[in-house]
Amino acid sequence: MPRLAPVTDESIREAATILRSHRVVAFPTETVYGLGADAFSAAAVSRIFAMKGRPADNPIIVHVIDALQAKQRVAGSWSERCDLLAARFWPGPLTLVVPRSAHLPEVVVAGRDTVAIRSPRHPVARRLLVEVGRPIAAPSANRSGHVSPTTAAHVAADFDDVADLLILDGGPCEIGIESTVLDMTADPPRLLRHGSITTDMLRDEFGRLDETRLIRQDAGPGTAARHYAPRTRTALGTTRDVLDALNNSSIVCVAVVTSANLARGAANPRSSVIVMPDDPQRYAARLYGALREADARGADVILIESPRSRDGLWASIRDRIERACAPRLDETEDGT
Ligand code: TXA
Ligand code: MG
Repeated sequence: MPRLAPVTDESIREAATILRSHRVVAFPTETVYGLGADAFSAAAVSRIFAMKGRPADNPIIVHVIDALQAKQRVAGSWSERCDLLAARFWPGPLTLVVPRSAHLPEVVVAGRDTVAIRSPRHPVARRLLVEVGRPIAAPSANRSGHVSPTTAAHVAADFDDVADLLILDGGPCEIGIESTVLDMTADPPRLLRHGSITTDMLRDEFGRLDETRLIRQDAGPGTAARHYAPRTRTALGTTRDVLDALNNSSIVCVAVVTSANLARGAANPRSSVIVMPDDPQRYAARLYGALREADARGADVILIESPRSRDGLWASIRDRIERACAPRLDETEDGT
């Protein structure tokens, strides 16, 4: 059984001791919970791959305290542009892909010549980084292909068979979707994953940004169409589609909606509705928890009412919903 620990000086020290002894701990970040290992311990990072069931060709983000540690320990080279982005968005939910340091173990970067780096702003992640004094490699703390965890309980549910996994319980994550990933080795920089640092914010910084939508594994890791997915079949629909499903007594559905008036009751007593907040920050923070709850209800289908807006953070939310909905057949899955 995993062990949930409240955040205290003692639990932070224990987590750092575990990291120093080449083992794995789960900790909160402002985006989602991470499953961390000393980035320079090949054995500990391999353990993360084994625990998650993560394909060996999918590299892991290295977390650092600041841009200086990124430059000195993790990156092979670091451009002025990276400095500007770090000054503006770090600590925070922006991951930069840059040439890697030759000292990093191959397993962290999955054999690539680049490395993904971010400096988290969550106080617990930062206390842990300071205490251990080394960069921490950490993917999201979920089984490969499953929805990312936004509470300590989500982590415990995914790794319920892992004896003695320490999970630092920092409460629910503020942002709720994973960091924006930007490939700084491309010119213009290329968006590899949407997040709460939106394309508008990045375009402000660069003017130009390559936003070609990536959906195939071979286009880049972490870009498979189906990703972040519940186990129940999941679909995106209009308000009308949701109403029809709720009025259909022969299917059991969980509707995830923003129109509160859809919560009025369903023709099938086993169908149910989860009402989401209608501002995008709160919607994002709630999304993965809602998908996990919906999944646990054992319905035939999870039907998500399409958010009305596509602007700003809604674009990133829509990206995650579409990945949760992509068909299971003929998929190329990398599911991180
Ligand atoms: O918000 C986050 O980024 C969270 C928290 C824990 O920091 N972490 C996270 O890690 O979402 P993970 O492993 O679930 O997703 C990392 C993404 C994957 O899509 C991976 O393929 C991509 O970053 N990535 C990592 N290294 C890369 C590299 N060298 N080149 C391109 N993509 C890379
Ligand atoms: Mg992940």
